[in-house]
Amino acid sequence: MTLHRLSSVSVGVPNVTETIAYYREFGLTSVGEGWLSTRDGGRQLHIVHSPTRRLVEMIIGVDSADDLDGAAAALARAGFAHHREGHRLSAVEKTTGVRATLQVEPHLTQRPVVATPYNGPGRYERQAQRAPGVLRTERVMPRKLGHAVIGTSDFGQARLFFTDCLGFKVSDHIKDAGIFLRCSNDHHNLLVLAAPLSFLHHTSWQVDDIDDVGRGAYTMLEHHPERHVWGLGRHYAGSNFFWYLKDPAGNFSEYYSDMDCIVEDQLWAPEVLEGAKGLFSWGPPPPPSFLHPDDLADLMTSSHATSS
Ligand SMILES: [Fe+2]
Repeated sequence: MTLHRLSSVSVGVPNVTETIAYYREFGLTSVGEGWLSTRDGGRQLHIVHSPTRRLVEMIIGVDSADDLDGAAAALARAGFAHHREGHRLSAVEKTTGVRATLQVEPHLTQRPVVATPYNGPGRYERQAQRAPGVLRTERVMPRKLGHAVIGTSDFGQARLFFTDCLGFKVSDHIKDAGIFLRCSNDHHNLLVLAAPLSFLHHTSWQVDDIDDVGRGAYTMLEHHPERHVWGLGRHYAGSNFFWYLKDPAGNFSEYYSDMDCIVEDQLWAPEVLEGAKGLFSWGPPPPPSFLHPDDLADLMTSSHATSS
C-alpha cells in the first residue's frame, strides 16, 4: 500500500469567516468556497462550519486503485464501514469523527529552495552581506501542509484505523500517549494523542527555514499578541523548528521548518520517547494551555451534549 502525501485537511469551526481571515493572514491564499491554498501544495485547507471546532476530514494521496482495494479490504476485516467511489475511498474513524479519504493522485514535487547561507565557526557562507533573514521583506507564505495532530479517547482504535487499515507508517512513539505517523517522506503527517476527549490540537505548515518560522510568527503577533501559544523551539520528534499560534476558533496553527525526512523505511529506527523528549528538544517551557487547550472543558461538555 503506497500512501504518498497528505493532500488536505478540512477543519470545522463555528466562526468560518473569521477563521478564513486568520489563515489568509497566516499566509495561505483564499481560493473560494472555504478553501485555502499553499504555494506548493495547492488547495490544502478547507474551513467548513461545525458547532464546535474539530478535524472533519483528511485527504491522503495514494498511487493506484490497487491501494484503495488494499485499504478497503483491511477496513472491512477490522469492521470499519467505508465508501468507495471511483478513485476515492472514505471511512470515518468513529471516536474522533475524522473522515479519512484516500485518493489516487500525483505526487507533490516541490522545487528545491536554495539553502539559506548561515555563517558558522570557520565557515563563512555569507561574506560582506547581511543575513537573508534580516533583509527579507516579502510576507511568509507556507509551502505546504505538513501535519495534523488529534487527541482521541480511544487511542487503540485510532492506531488500528490509521496504521493497519489505511497504511500510515510509524515514525516514533510517545510512551503510552501518542504515535507519530507518516503518509509521505515527512517524519510525521499525523500525530495521534491519547486524550480524555477527541479534538483537533493543531495543523502545521511548512516554511523555508528558521528565519521564516520567526518572521511568520512575528508578523502574526505584531497586532495580536494573544495569538501566541508556544515558540520558538525545536522538537525532538521530527527535529523541526516550531512556533505555535492560535486561530480564532481555538485550533493551534504551527509554522515549521527543517523536519526529518524518511525516504528509506529501513534506515529509520522508531524510538519510544519519554518525558520532555516527546514534546521538544529545546525552547521556552511549554505553557499548560499547549498540553490542555483552554477550551477542552467546553468541548467535553458539548461532546457529551451531542452524544446524549
Ligand atoms: Fe506539530
